[in-house]
Amino acid sequence: MRVLSGIQPTARFHWGNYFGAIRQYIDLQTEDEAYYFIADLHALTTVRDADKLRQNTFDAAVDLLALGLNPEHAVMFVQSHVPEVTQLCWLLMTGTPMGLLERCTAFKDKKAHGLTADAGLFTYPVLMAADILLYDADVVPVGKDQVQHIEVCRDLAGSFNHEFGETFVLPKAKILESTAKVPGTDGEKMSKSYNNTLEVFEPLGQLKKKIMRITTDSRPMEDAKEPESDHLFQLYSLMADDSQREEMAAMYRRGGFGYGEVKKALLGVATDYFAEARERREALVAKPEQVQDILADGASRARKKAGEVLARAETACGLRG
Ligand code: TYM
Repeated sequence: MRVLSGIQPTARFHWGNYFGAIRQYIDLQTEDEAYYFIADLHALTTVRDADKLRQNTFDAAVDLLALGLNPEHAVMFVQSHVPEVTQLCWLLMTGTPMGLLERCTAFKDKKAHGLTADAGLFTYPVLMAADILLYDADVVPVGKDQVQHIEVCRDLAGSFNHEFGETFVLPKAKILESTAKVPGTDGEKMSKSYNNTLEVFEPLGQLKKKIMRITTDSRPMEDAKEPESDHLFQLYSLMADDSQREEMAAMYRRGGFGYGEVKKALLGVATDYFAEARERREALVAKPEQVQDILADGASRARKKAGEVLARAETACGLRG
């Protein structure tokens, strides 16, 4: 099985990124082949500051390594370091119906949130399809918000294969049901664009402030509450062990507690959960050259596979003999 996924360096990673996607990357990195990349070309649709994009890309690499991505197992690289992807993107673009892209919810959503819709944002799913097809990926671990994009990828691959003969592997999305849509501090999906994130490596003082500001319902403290439908409980459950979770659920069902207690407990489990990763991060930041070497090595391994698949696609559609 060949696994592939990408993550944008638009801001520091949040709990949604980690529990929806990164944790899966780590679990799957020992499969036959695993490719994980930092999607800087995609990030360019929103980050329009060169220094910031460079810094974010480096931070993303350090964060992934600190969280447990192991370059001895997985090929880890920066998307733009493999230029074959933009070549394949053009091949796919020529067969992409406009209507298919107009229906993509991520595009519609971003537009609704006031982001200017340039051609890059509109054709974003085609570049994502190229990302996936370029490595013959079978499985793409993602959160729920990316599932539609993987359907688009399957559509594009299917029609290319139909027109030019079997060329691309049709990938499948892999989501973890329980964490496919991690809620943010306001109960909506956690997302950089909704300004409701809790970051994995947030300084602890700042994390505490954000946790204390998590919105809660205003029912009286005495009332018994259903834990599963409460986003504060859902966030706690991400990091609590089974007995902590059961104890907390029982407290909700009994009633008579304050949300302040839950928030304190959440800060406690979050601090413990990421403590080791924080330490590993400190060590990595002190060795930036080592991180750059890992990325350079990843890019050259990725380009090998990418070159093969691109040549296959170019031959299929008549660009090569
Ligand atoms: P991005 O950078 O927005 O998010 C990275 C990963 O985190 C997941 N995620 C979540 N999962 C659960 N709950 C949440 N609240 C939450 N927020 C984010 C996303 O589903 C994603 O898996 N287009 C992609 C990047 C990309 C890509 C690819 C992914 C580019 N090319 C090829 C897979 C394959 C994106 O914007 O993800």
